[in-house]
Amino acid sequence: MQIIHSVKELQQWAKEARRNGKTIGLVPTMGFLHDGHMSLIDTARANGANAIVVSIFVNPIQFGPNEDFDRYPRDFEHDRAMCEARKVDVIFAPAVSDMYPQPLTCHVAETTISQKLCGRTRPTHFQGVTTVVSKLFLAALPDLAVFGQKDAQQAAIIRRMVRDLNFPITIITAPIIREADGLAMSSRNKYLSADEHQRALAISRSLFAAQKTVKENPEIKAAELIGAIRSAIEKAGGVVDYIELTDSETMIPQEEMVPGGHHTIAVAAKFGATRLIDNVQLN
Ligand code: PAF
Repeated sequence: MQIIHSVKELQQWAKEARRNGKTIGLVPTMGFLHDGHMSLIDTARANGANAIVVSIFVNPIQFGPNEDFDRYPRDFEHDRAMCEARKVDVIFAPAVSDMYPQPLTCHVAETTISQKLCGRTRPTHFQGVTTVVSKLFLAALPDLAVFGQKDAQQAAIIRRMVRDLNFPITIITAPIIREADGLAMSSRNKYLSADEHQRALAISRSLFAAQKTVKENPEIKAAELIGAIRSAIEKAGGVVDYIELTDSETMIPQEEMVPGGHHTIAVAAKFGATRLIDNVQLN
């Protein structure tokens, strides 16, 4: 396994891999890897990638001024060992100065999907994501890239960016991996105390209950589903940022399910100081 820090060196590696007929799979991460990330690597391989690049980069430009950039968990040795065990070909671990040697005056912005849900409370977040993901695409030159469904809005924005800007890259969205108790895996779960973790299970439990309700009654109104999720989260002491029933591609809120449509119920809520997101698909 190679560890590469510079964009130029990764581009050279990628060009060589392509000359050798390899299919490059990119798994973009911010590190502090867990089984959810490992499943993204497995998904890349299952979709034909035979040269896997995992990028590990805590991207400063996707954090707002009062967010957790400085305390975001980092553990490169742990990440290196996990990637080695999964037979990753390259870890791309640039320093901030490798990714952003000069202040940026060019950004990549998606202007519609990014305004909804998380975009309302994190107004600069998705522009930071689309900008860094574009830079990662141009550094690793992947054939395919895998993103987790836990960040459903992020995945929808990346799919739209790739469609609109003609990136020749297949985007694969891999299912959410959960702890045994149902909590969606996230590097930020480390911030939760044992009590907050227990109470935060109200999110996944109420989402699963909503999924079951929809199966039994597909004509149910969004307001009823949302009300039940909100009351379960608030009863557990969580503070809801949003709960929306959305179209899975556009993230536009829906009042009810459209027959034959693809729908996501997306939630963001705080337990203590930790903001968690989760979602379920309804079809
Ligand atoms: O999902 C993440 O971990 C990040 O938003 C990503 C895609 C690696 C960009 O920094």
